[in-house]
Amino acid sequence: MCGIIAYVGRQQALPILINGLKRLEYRGYDSAGVAVMNPNLTIYKKKGKVINLEEHALNNKIDSTIGMGHTRWATHGEPCDRNSHPHLSNKKDLAIIHNGIIENYATLKQELLSKGHVFESDTDSEVLIHFIEDIQENLGCALEEAVRIALTRVTGAYAIVVMSQKNPDMLIAARKSSPLIVGVGKDEFFLASDATPIIQYTKQVVYLKDYEVAVIKNGKLTITDLQNNIHDAYIKELDIELAAIEKGNFEHYMLKEIFEQPKTILDCLRGRLLAEEGKVRLGGLREYIDQLCNAKRIIIIACGTSLNAGMVARYLFQEICRIPVEVEYASEFRYGSPVVRDGDVVIAISQSGETADTLVAIEKAKEMGAIILGICNVVGSSIPRASHAGVYTHAGAEIGVASTKAFTAQLTVLYLIALQVAKEKGTLDNDRFRLLLNELDKIPAKVQTILDNSYLTQSLASLYLDAQNMIYLGRGYNFPIALEGALKIKEISYIHAEGYPAAEMKHGPIALIDEEMPVVFIATKDHTYEKIVSNIQEVKARKGKVIAIVTEGDEMVKSLADHVFEIPETDEILTPLLSVIPLQLFAYYTGVLRGCNVDQPRNLAKSVTVE
Ligand code: F6R
Repeated sequence: MCGIIAYVGRQQALPILINGLKRLEYRGYDSAGVAVMNPNLTIYKKKGKVINLEEHALNNKIDSTIGMGHTRWATHGEPCDRNSHPHLSNKKDLAIIHNGIIENYATLKQELLSKGHVFESDTDSEVLIHFIEDIQENLGCALEEAVRIALTRVTGAYAIVVMSQKNPDMLIAARKSSPLIVGVGKDEFFLASDATPIIQYTKQVVYLKDYEVAVIKNGKLTITDLQNNIHDAYIKELDIELAAIEKGNFEHYMLKEIFEQPKTILDCLRGRLLAEEGKVRLGGLREYIDQLCNAKRIIIIACGTSLNAGMVARYLFQEICRIPVEVEYASEFRYGSPVVRDGDVVIAISQSGETADTLVAIEKAKEMGAIILGICNVVGSSIPRASHAGVYTHAGAEIGVASTKAFTAQLTVLYLIALQVAKEKGTLDNDRFRLLLNELDKIPAKVQTILDNSYLTQSLASLYLDAQNMIYLGRGYNFPIALEGALKIKEISYIHAEGYPAAEMKHGPIALIDEEMPVVFIATKDHTYEKIVSNIQEVKARKGKVIAIVTEGDEMVKSLADHVFEIPETDEILTPLLSVIPLQLFAYYTGVLRGCNVDQPRNLAKSVTVE
């Protein structure tokens, strides 16, 4: 969604803001803007990428040691200069940047219009700063008090920073359901949506909680709630290095992140998979493992790629733990009159830990008495905080907007959980348990083998550049991988693609098949292999072009398909960790060859903090 950065201290603010916005750009790239004191409250904003703003702002001589910046993913109002943040109040002496949605903005706007306020944008955020100004004028109170009062009257989600002409060294920030952290340096403070823009300056951070207001004034940070009760500022140390958020020698973050997977899977397994001892140890679940083992049902809620990981987990938990599993789009769960019964456990999966749809679904499930276990990548984010317990995926910062390494890390955690539960429940015999542990242990090296052959996916991509549509088909554990392959190609290359269970093809999608239609089969050696070979034959009989992901040494599919990509053999259950890799690479190279911005695909944002 939108990205926020603000600074107050002794350094020049503008370079910190511009660099920060470049790091945050993955959160939204419709427009960017900054506010500084130069010496008056001055705003520079531009539609499009941060680079446009940089050229625009740097043409001016700016001398300011305080400022705030915003990169936008449009919700209210088209992307244009006028709708870019920061927004000014009616008297132009207050400015705001905002991430989230003010749901009752239309009512507030009507109220303010009747009082003579004039609005320059179509945004809900501009309404909020006018509202704050109106409260301050009416009550004659301090700005921070006006902010607190305004926030008790708005509904929706917000992370905001406010600057004031009359208080030129003050920043006021607040959050509800949108992330915001305070970076604490020596004689300086930062505010940011996530750690990426501030780790080069400080690793000391305070995670603001919902309904907290932070005021930075005279070199001092004060945190209160909306009723002005003082809260302690708990400083935490960030566990992330600058190199982890840089591209290094890779052309794109997405490629870097795909290639990091042997390491990220290993990091995820480290200390948890004890292959020699024949054990799985997940500290984060210790207190809830009994509930999980005794669960009558597991409900998995997530969105997008995280949902696809959840769909793999359905097969897994049902097969090896014998627990019924339902997988729900988080956005549909909340409003679908869910039935949560005693003994149900909800697993929420999210890379960012900030996805609004997932958070709202968690709240609903919690209200209904469910135990929530979170599987998240971003430490300290909202979903782990809203969960009773959980497991971090430890994939490191994922900057490419299309999720890759976070997906395989989510799968890895799900395998570990399922194995531990199966062992404790006794639904998996000891030999099979040991075998799966050993196989899981070998996965990072096998992923590396696939990456070593990435050039094959590049040449394949060059053959299908002009495709208008694609179909991805798989069965069992590979069905969610077909969904994930189709999602990746859609996001990255803008080729329309659909993922289906391979057997379902004959119930409709087969009508689409002709000589123009590439069909990607995930046809590894498993218990449905013969059936999927028949499905390949059905496509070939209709002159479709078949690209198949197969197990090393497969001759049968090779003789039928137009192209094959071999992956190392592993246990059928673990195949998704390998079969998804060539599909990620294929999407990446197709996008690059089609001239798409693969790290920042159009209309997308890395973390979607609105419903
Ligand atoms: C796809 C992608 C999205 C996310 C989805 C959920 O490549 O990145 O579909 O998977 O928005 O995000 P998280 O996992 O952060 O909750």
